[in-house]
Amino acid sequence: MRRPIIAGNWKMHKTIAEAVQLAEALKGQPGELRAEIVLCPPFTALAAVAAIIKDSPIALGAQNMHWEEQGAFTGEISPNMLKDAGCAYVILGHSERRQYFGETDELVNRKAKAALAHDLTPIVCVGETLVQREAGETEAIVATQTRGALAGLTPEAVASLVIAYEPVWAIGTGKTASDDDAQQVIAFIRATVAAEFGNAAAAAVRIQYGGSVKAANAASLLSRPDIDGALVGGASLKAADFQGIIDGA
Ligand code: G3P
Repeated sequence: MRRPIIAGNWKMHKTIAEAVQLAEALKGQPGELRAEIVLCPPFTALAAVAAIIKDSPIALGAQNMHWEEQGAFTGEISPNMLKDAGCAYVILGHSERRQYFGETDELVNRKAKAALAHDLTPIVCVGETLVQREAGETEAIVATQTRGALAGLTPEAVASLVIAYEPVWAIGTGKTASDDDAQQVIAFIRATVAAEFGNAAAAAVRIQYGGSVKAANAASLLSRPDIDGALVGGASLKAADFQGIIDGA
């Protein structure tokens, strides 16, 4: 019942011309897709990519945003600006934002509320570091991050959004979590959602896995009952690689 969602997080890669080229190559996909596809280019390329995928089933997402609509926030981008650029999704609380830009669960929560208020679907990222995993803290960390990011939302809002479980040690390292590990933690996140927001929200919320997803491992990860898609970094930067993941889904 949950439609898989495959999102490409291009991070700080691609000029406008390169982004256009990649979007063009992906737009040529055949027919009806089982999975929903989302491209998340850098801010500078959002409008150009939006124009290319306009009449295709591919959706547009941003990688971050501020929670205010406008104001004196130098360097920031607001939810309505993302809507204006054609976005339907926004990645929030990515571990790189938490690690390098000090984003906290409270901040992610504010952003999630603002995104939902502007009809943008948040893709809320959670995940433990290697040190935390080795200390046996994975469940405590993802539970805290999940509860923190979703605090104060209605069960209906939670049902409508996307959570991405991205173990930090698996991001850009080539070390993918095993299917069993990813399934286990994602099932735990779903149970956390159930405890806070009820079974209906937990059954509806889509939870992706992210961290060194590639064509070779996507199909088997996605065959697990609680894994509803993938948030892809490196392998989303080349059309053939990303297409391989989409085909696997
Ligand atoms: O948001 C996606 C990401 O952090 C995973 O990156 O390069 O390991 O697929 P990568």
